Amino acid sequence: MRIAIVSVGHSKFGKRDDVSVQELAFESFKEAMENSNVDKKDIDASIIGSSPEYHKQRSLPGVITEYLGLNPKLTYLTEAACASGSAGMSAACAYIKAGLANTVLVMGVQKMLELTTPEISSLLGRVGDVQWESVFGTTFAGYYAMYANKHMAEFGTKREQLAKVAVKNHHYGFMNPKAMFQKEITLEKAMGSRMVAYPLTLYDCCANADGSACVILTNEELAKKYTDEPVFIDALGYASAEMSVLRRKDLSSVPSTVLASKMAYKQAGIEPKDVDVADVHDCFTIAEIMAYEDLGFCEKGQGGKFIDDEQTYIGGKIPVNVDGGLKTKGHPIGATGTSMFVEGFKQLRAQADKRQVSGAEVALTHNIGGIGQYCFVGILRR
Ligand SMILES: CC(C)(COP(=O)(O)OP(=O)(O)OC[C@H]1O[C@@H](n2cnc3c(N)ncnc32)[C@H](O)[C@@H]1OP(=O)(O)O)[C@@H](O)C(=O)NCCC(=O)NCCS
Repeated sequence: MRIAIVSVGHSKFGKRDDVSVQELAFESFKEAMENSNVDKKDIDASIIGSSPEYHKQRSLPGVITEYLGLNPKLTYLTEAACASGSAGMSAACAYIKAGLANTVLVMGVQKMLELTTPEISSLLGRVGDVQWESVFGTTFAGYYAMYANKHMAEFGTKREQLAKVAVKNHHYGFMNPKAMFQKEITLEKAMGSRMVAYPLTLYDCCANADGSACVILTNEELAKKYTDEPVFIDALGYASAEMSVLRRKDLSSVPSTVLASKMAYKQAGIEPKDVDVADVHDCFTIAEIMAYEDLGFCEKGQGGKFIDDEQTYIGGKIPVNVDGGLKTKGHPIGATGTSMFVEGFKQLRAQADKRQVSGAEVALTHNIGGIGQYCFVGILRR
């Protein structure tokens, strides 16, 4: 059975002091409901992808489904750190494939900015091993800085190449009205920004954010009732890896990306070269460079050259993060995975406005949780 996406919605990402967490979820839900013939009563289950520790409100599914008017149907939370939204997508696909539900809402939502940066950094750091690592002060920027230093030492990757990823993503984020930062930046500005964790500067990092993005899924048969233009999920690969960075054999690659993408390509019967547009997990610029390699878009060690040659711009081999990526959309961690599916859906329906990749038939989503503890790779097709 093929799974179809029949509608999507996306809130504005950024600092959203103007709304509560349930109102933030409503913003994307309203858009999804307005853009399809789905009726609330058709939704058999709502899965909420979120990391609960950032919110004052505990047990989010209760408050969100009440506000969206989705009771008394099934609801619960999926948590896989920054991949919580994609974990929700995986659960929804399983319900539909098993015949336990026909139509499912996946709501990725996160409101992080009620906390300060040090508070958020401390919580994020605890997505690393608390017993052996975060006690020594590991932060996410610190973890990815280790990846960057290893990649630079092993393959000669340059700081300029990292910064070029930020320049590209700001170029496209400028065209995305839902992005947190809608501004172009120069290479000089990226290179000259303040150091966060060597070699990563401010512009090498994604920003903490508030936001929601949702997806409505159903089976192929029912999809026709809801829309003339469904988008199909041909594959959703997944993998996990050790929590502790000490147990990783190689710090210039994310092994769960390699495994999840192999599974996804096999399920979809495609190769990396068949992908027309990709949203990859660029929580830090080095993560995007490693994703080029781990997803098979270029050879191992050639990620720096791939961005030098502008192969991930529109017009290059594989346009990547043309919605601005986490770097400029912001990274409200539970909403990031579903936001990637929203972009894939829009690209395949030719609704991505100025950032449209013309004739896109196959879209890829790549969502990492933590430093690669969880990874989901989706393949969408028109
Ligand atoms: C990089 C980081 C430390 C900056 O936080 P900060 O020092 O508290 O920054 P502030 O919130 O004080 O913002 C200062 C300025 O920088 C801007 N800014 C903040 N983060 C930014 C980013 N990542 N990129 C570009 N600009 C950023 C703000 O908009 C603000 O601009 P303004 O002065 O014009 O208003 C923080 O964004 C961070 O920790 N990012 C990584 C998040 C992360 O690890 N997520 C999980 C990944 S898997």
